[in-house]
Amino acid sequence: MTSNPGPKTWTEFFAGDHAIYVNARHLQVHYERQARDLLRLLAGRVRPRLLDFGCGDALAAPDLAAAGAKVWLYDAAPGVRERLSRRYVGTPGIVVLGEGDWEALRGGDFDVVLVNSVLQYLERAGTEALVVRLAGLLAPGGELVLADVVPPGFGLVADLRALLVPAARHGYLGPALLGLGRTFFSAYRGLRHTAGFSTWSEPEVRELARRHGLQAERLPFNVGFNTRRMTFRLGAGPVGTAPAGTRTLS
Ligand SMILES: C[S@@+](CC[C@H](N)C(=O)[O-])C[C@H]1O[C@@H](n2cnc3c(N)ncnc32)[C@H](O)[C@@H]1O
Repeated sequence: MTSNPGPKTWTEFFAGDHAIYVNARHLQVHYERQARDLLRLLAGRVRPRLLDFGCGDALAAPDLAAAGAKVWLYDAAPGVRERLSRRYVGTPGIVVLGEGDWEALRGGDFDVVLVNSVLQYLERAGTEALVVRLAGLLAPGGELVLADVVPPGFGLVADLRALLVPAARHGYLGPALLGLGRTFFSAYRGLRHTAGFSTWSEPEVRELARRHGLQAERLPFNVGFNTRRMTFRLGAGPVGTAPAGTRTLS
């Protein structure tokens, strides 16, 4: 009998049975907060076309679709895409992209491209190419949102607070503490060393945007519970206000 060697890459990790979300309640609370923050971010756009890159379980997507957005979901982990396809088959306003669909995407069709809590799992050189590709998918007046970007430094207190404060408030503190231990002793810790864990400072994100002819604005809030992490809007022109004629969320 062969032993399971464990995940070698982040996409293998996320496709598998990990303890980042400690139970169904945690997953629900995480995505309720995400939906609230994303609706805030989309305010001012009518029926926006949103591509969520590295979407994970994407439980906020129905709330966005109910508010008038059309949402395309893409995740590199095949196991995640299978879960999404089962969950959202036939759901109005939500399209789950396969690997081929993602590769075939061209042109400026999206008002918002969201990359939430993903950059830390990508090599910095790969991020450079990804930003160019995603910016190329934006419609005129569109914006690339880089959210939950992890700044350099340890940040343990903020990470613990982001997990434990909502857990205490929403009744899953025990499972959160157990999950913390499980994650600490799981492949997650090792993968941070072997697969890498990228951090970006605010000036580095601004410079990344500038190198590719984009303007960056850091938002006063982050998407999600971790207030130390950062959210940026990148766009071809001044960002933060939708230009005249762009869609407004109904
Ligand atoms: C921490 S989860 C974030 C999920 C979701 N965006 C959220 O904020 O709830 C990171 C996700 O990024 C995906 N991912 C990692 N590397 C990726 C890549 N190169 N391309 C697309 N998705 C990737 C993983 O499969 C995982 O679902």
